[in-house]
Amino acid sequence: MPDGKCRVVVLISGSGTNLQAFLDAAASAECDYTVEAVISNKADAYGLTRARNAGVATDVLSHREFSDRESFDQAMIKVIDGYQPDLVILAGFMRILTPDFVRHYSGRLLNIHPSLLPKYQGLHTHQRVLDAGDSEHGATVHFVTEELDGGPPVLQAAVPIESGDTADTLSQRVQVQEHIIYPLAASWFAQGRLKMVGDRAELDGELLPRSGKRLD
Ligand code: GAR
Repeated sequence: MPDGKCRVVVLISGSGTNLQAFLDAAASAECDYTVEAVISNKADAYGLTRARNAGVATDVLSHREFSDRESFDQAMIKVIDGYQPDLVILAGFMRILTPDFVRHYSGRLLNIHPSLLPKYQGLHTHQRVLDAGDSEHGATVHFVTEELDGGPPVLQAAVPIESGDTADTLSQRVQVQEHIIYPLAASWFAQGRLKMVGDRAELDGELLPRSGKRLD
């Protein structure tokens, strides 16, 4: 990023509320990144409308048109790299990525997961937290590695569980936190402060805890 702002490409599959948080942040002149493109594997993802409303380029690449994961991911790489991104953001992109894809973007691929990783990797996290009787839940921004939901955590925000919570109410409160921590982590990356070093995340030259930094 020597000659300007960090170029971000966002991958989505759905509503795109996290994408909206990036678009809103990038609309400010002080923001250190620009959203160059939004790419969806689903043509009806509402996030595509959000991108168009913000004047951001969009592409749709349906995984159904490819015979296997490898060929879909290679086609994605071609489209993504056309925008010359410094950072690729997974924002509710609900596809398992191939090792080749992950390696291609190693150290510049971020995801947000709706749990306090390493707890509750995988799907249905809100219900699983309620079933386990936990007292808190949350979200984690992490670098993506070949291990599903297992890459180095960067930033977490916790949400206390209240009596009467359902998976829906919990998901809504977790998403409020997601919209704060994800653009913040991206701005650290854009400022050159955040790096992946081996299997850890490093901020301002210091290794972060294995569960990432906790937002107070
Ligand atoms: C987000 O809540 C994100 O944590 C989750 O998908 C949602 C997308 O919402 N991601 C995962 O579950 C990844 N394993 P959005 O489309 O409104 O941003």
